[in-house]
Amino acid sequence: MANVSSVLQSKPKSESIGTGLDEAARAKIAASLQSILGSTYRLLVKTQIHHWNVVGPLFHPIHLLTEQHYEDLFAAVDTIAERIRALGHPTEAPQIGTEKTKVAEMSAHELLADLVADHEALCREMREVAAAAEEVDDIVTNDMLVARLTFHEKAIWMLRAMLAN
Ligand SMILES: [Fe+2]
Repeated sequence: MANVSSVLQSKPKSESIGTGLDEAARAKIAASLQSILGSTYRLLVKTQIHHWNVVGPLFHPIHLLTEQHYEDLFAAVDTIAERIRALGHPTEAPQIGTEKTKVAEMSAHELLADLVADHEALCREMREVAAAAEEVDDIVTNDMLVARLTFHEKAIWMLRAMLAN
């Protein structure tokens, strides 16, 4: 029987998996998902910062909507990271980064527009990877990204509706 120190020596590594997905395709999709993981984390952090800092007559609805969004994004990063692992690759630490923009000094209008822009950019990134996944028969990643796109497109609608004048 293995002793305690030897059972703690295992490390995550890229693995060969016989699920019918080509190895190169798995590596390519995992790398793309790593980028999406970082983008999703950055949007999660920004959404929560806006949730805390928003002021004005629309404080309460924006505060509540951003809370729903960061809760969804928090669950999403786990789903995305676990898909990378299921594809047989380790999950890297995402670059959260800090923006030069002073998000704490934005008006309610500016922060809503800022969130719309980030959701839209993430949609464009996800749409490309969803298509690439479908091309290599990775229908599970495609399905996950379709679900993520559904969330982001709805979020964009709601954020835009608050910006309407
Ligand atoms: Fe909160």
